[in-house]
Formats: sequence, C-alpha cells, structure tokens
Amino acid sequence: MKKILVSTGGGDCPGLNAVIRGLVKAAKNSKQDWEVWGSLEAFNGMLDDPIRIVKLNRKKIEGIHIKGGTIIKTTNRGKPMAFPVQKEDGTWTTEDRTQELVDRIRAEGFDAVVNIGGDGSQKISQLLFEMGLNVIGVPKTIDNDLSATDLTFGFTTAVQIATDSFDKLVTTAESHHRVMIMEVMGRDAGWIALHAAVAGGAEICLIPEIPYDIETIVEKIKKRYFKKRGFVNIVIAEGAKPKGGTVVGQASGEVGDGHIKLGGIANFLRKQLEEHPNMPDVQVRTTILGHTQRGGTPVAFDRILATSMGVKAFELIQAGRFGHMVSFKNNDLTSVLLSEAIKENKNVRADHYLMRVARSIGMSFGD
Ligand code: F6P
Repeated sequence: MKKILVSTGGGDCPGLNAVIRGLVKAAKNSKQDWEVWGSLEAFNGMLDDPIRIVKLNRKKIEGIHIKGGTIIKTTNRGKPMAFPVQKEDGTWTTEDRTQELVDRIRAEGFDAVVNIGGDGSQKISQLLFEMGLNVIGVPKTIDNDLSATDLTFGFTTAVQIATDSFDKLVTTAESHHRVMIMEVMGRDAGWIALHAAVAGGAEICLIPEIPYDIETIVEKIKKRYFKKRGFVNIVIAEGAKPKGGTVVGQASGEVGDGHIKLGGIANFLRKQLEEHPNMPDVQVRTTILGHTQRGGTPVAFDRILATSMGVKAFELIQAGRFGHMVSFKNNDLTSVLLSEAIKENKNVRADHYLMRVARSIGMSFGD
C-alpha cells in the first residue's frame, strides 16, 4: 500500500474540495493500492501533537466537488519555515519547523505529497521537494496571479460573484444617478477587477498595475453627467492606488501571516471624489465585496478545472514527476517545474487582449 498526503494552504478558494475529490477518486480507480490522507489546516496537522490527519475514503469525498471551502481546513498561518509558537510568557514568536515536518511526513510513511495552494504554498512545495519529499503542487487562488498557469480554479467563480454584485449595483446607480464604486479582491493583480468590469460594463476600472489619476476619473464622471447619462459604475481592485500614492490596508498583526490586509481603497476614492472641486453634485456610494468572492459553490468551470487538476496531480505521482506543479496552459492540462512556477507572479499587462477590448469599448483605467 502507498500513501499520499494532501494539504490545502492559504486562503480558502472555491474548487479546493473538487481537487481533493479528483485526486482521491483517481487514486481509488487506479486499482493500485493507494491511500490518500489529508493534513488538517495545511501542514499544521502534521506538526501538531498528536498529529491531525484524516483518511480520505470514498465516503468522505462524496459530492464535495460542489461545496466551497475545504473539508481538510486551511490556514494562512502555517508556514513551516516561520511557524507561530507561543512562548512561556504568553507572547508569540516564529520557529523554523521545516525539517521536523519533513521527518514527520517520512515517519508516517507518505510516498507523495500534494500541496494545493497559491504562491506562498508553492514556495513551501519547492522547499519540501528540495529537502527530499516527493511533492506535487496544485495552483489555487481567486487572484489568478500565478504565472505558470493560464488559470487557477476559484478565479472564474470570484469573477462571477463580482459580476452578479455589479449587476445589482447598476440598478441603484441608474435609479439614483449615483457613482457606485465596487471594490474587489485580487491582491496586487487586477484580474478579478478587469474581468468583472468587462462582464458588467463598468465605465471605469482601476487596477494595481495602473496607478490612477483622480483628475482623469473626475473628467470621465463629468462627461457622463453632461451627456445626461447621469450615473457611473466603477470597479476598483483592492490593490489599486492613486498616482504617487500607496495601497490602502494594514498589517495583519497576526503571528505567522506577514501579508498586508488590503481593503478600503473604495472609500479612499469616494473621499477623493467628494472633496474634488470639479465633481458634479452627485452621490457616491461604495461596496466592498470582500470574502463573498471566495465563498459558496464553485461555478461549473471551476469544478471541472479543479477536478481535472486533482486527477492530473495523481497522474504526475504515478509518472514520478515530482517537483512539478499542475498547470492549465493553452486549454490543456500540463505541468511545470515548481522552481519555475514560483519565480514571478502574473500581473495584468497593458497589451493583454482584454485590456485592448476594455479600452475599445470606452472603459477608462484612470490613466
Ligand atoms: O489571495 C486571495 C485573497 O482573497 C486576496 O484576494 C485577498 O487580498 C486575501 O486573500 C485576503 O486574505 P485573508 O483571507 O487572510 O483576509
């Protein structure tokens, strides 16, 4: 009998369960003697005493592909290289527990590890691989900012949720002649914002890759009002910033999670607009979608992509192609070296086809 350990790390994402189900089903249906175990809360389960792992049999994975979240839980405070540890005086520090994790995974007799996660998790995958474990990475993030794959599961669901919300906000924009600002997630990448803006038909889309000029935005709003189309819908990415300015957010303040928590740029923009001397007399309202974009059931495309990625992870294990990450490129499932996959993130380029489309239909990026 051979054993696979699967882990889901970082933020939850629609499709995680579908990957787990795809992996377990492929392993069971291979008619070889594979067992799949889940480490609870990323690799934290393996580092706990006693360890917290769960055997993923057919019963456990039945029908889970339509559920959001992850049945084996997750955490963004589980980096083995900077693991949060409470000191005797009650304060917290971090310790490198990577070697201990490798030793424990070996001691439990795991032949392969499937690590499902975003850029941070895949850096952990590469490290564990370099330390001798048979690791396969599966890319996950609603942000779609991993360069080695055209798409990550969860992204399409997030775009759908953002688009549905946008459609609802248009109703109020039209009825009240308002400027409605909708803030979406995406960290340092504008993919969710760009796609939702095109799908919804926003007049203005502000993304991290293009710092915005408030004068351009005010001019665009004025034009809309003078032409009697007295409303404007703006999509703004949480990582957007004004020219010469900085992002809006704050340190998480949580040991083991070094990320800045982005959020609030919509309200910053609203204030800028309300205080601008040339703004027409118009009400501005903001909506921050936040974690709704990661919640609920994955759309069909993400279920399919995630299931496929789970199956591909098992194929890579069988082929012994460790140190690889599953990837979706040119409408096909493939794999890339983890060492390549973690090199850089993928941002919206000015020459991306959807940027050209958006500009052609008159969308402003505030530049
Ligand atoms: O990376 C996914 C993501 O949802 C980002 O879009 C967002 O900035 C971040 O995670 C939020 O993280 P948390 O759930 O820790 O607040």
